[in-house]
Amino acid sequence: MYETLVQEPLVSMPRIGDQAPDFEALTTKGKIKMSDFAKGKWTVMFSHPADFTPVCTTEMSGFAIRKNEFDALNTELLGLSIDSVHAHLGWVQNVRESTGVYFDFPIIADIDMKVSKRYGMLQPNESETSAVRAVFFIDPTKKIRLIMYYPLNVGRNMDEILRALDALQTSDKYKVAMPLDWKRGDKVIVPPPKTLDELNARIADDTLEKVEWYLAKKEI
Ligand code: BEZ
Repeated sequence: MYETLVQEPLVSMPRIGDQAPDFEALTTKGKIKMSDFAKGKWTVMFSHPADFTPVCTTEMSGFAIRKNEFDALNTELLGLSIDSVHAHLGWVQNVRESTGVYFDFPIIADIDMKVSKRYGMLQPNESETSAVRAVFFIDPTKKIRLIMYYPLNVGRNMDEILRALDALQTSDKYKVAMPLDWKRGDKVIVPPPKTLDELNARIADDTLEKVEWYLAKKEI
């Protein structure tokens, strides 16, 4: 007889739907406590492998340049790497001097790796000493709503990060679902009927774009 072996992860990693694990940490804007951070707002928390590295510089600059779009979506940015505050400050100043881009959001100095380990950002088969490129989308109730993990050698896509954030918020607001490649202005998916009455109402509804009875879209 064969037994099914399920390999448990060595550390418990947060999953979609979990409450964001609480922590206190030093950042480039002083000490923060996750449970008190960005009250009433969304948080996009993202890690990068190391300060003063090329891909990370493009990504952090991308967050900084588009910070106004995160502001418009009621969202605070929170960076992290396994570097000291001193290194973070040096990098922020270096990028500001060379390109004029200013990282005007807190960056956690996770030198004891406490936060990276707790959030599954330290993935030892990729690197034992650097966090991978993770993005956690955390809603105002501090629930984790979406997680992205990228390896060390591939930068993230800022359009997709903003699109996913907008999609989550729009889905919550209108109680709808978002189709492939949804972006603001596109039609959204109306949840499928769950009873025969709802099915009959759906069939009679001429305001919806119906591909099938279970796949209907509407403008919002
Ligand atoms: C980078 O940001 O360029 C980078 C950082 C760590 C490993 C590989 C690339």
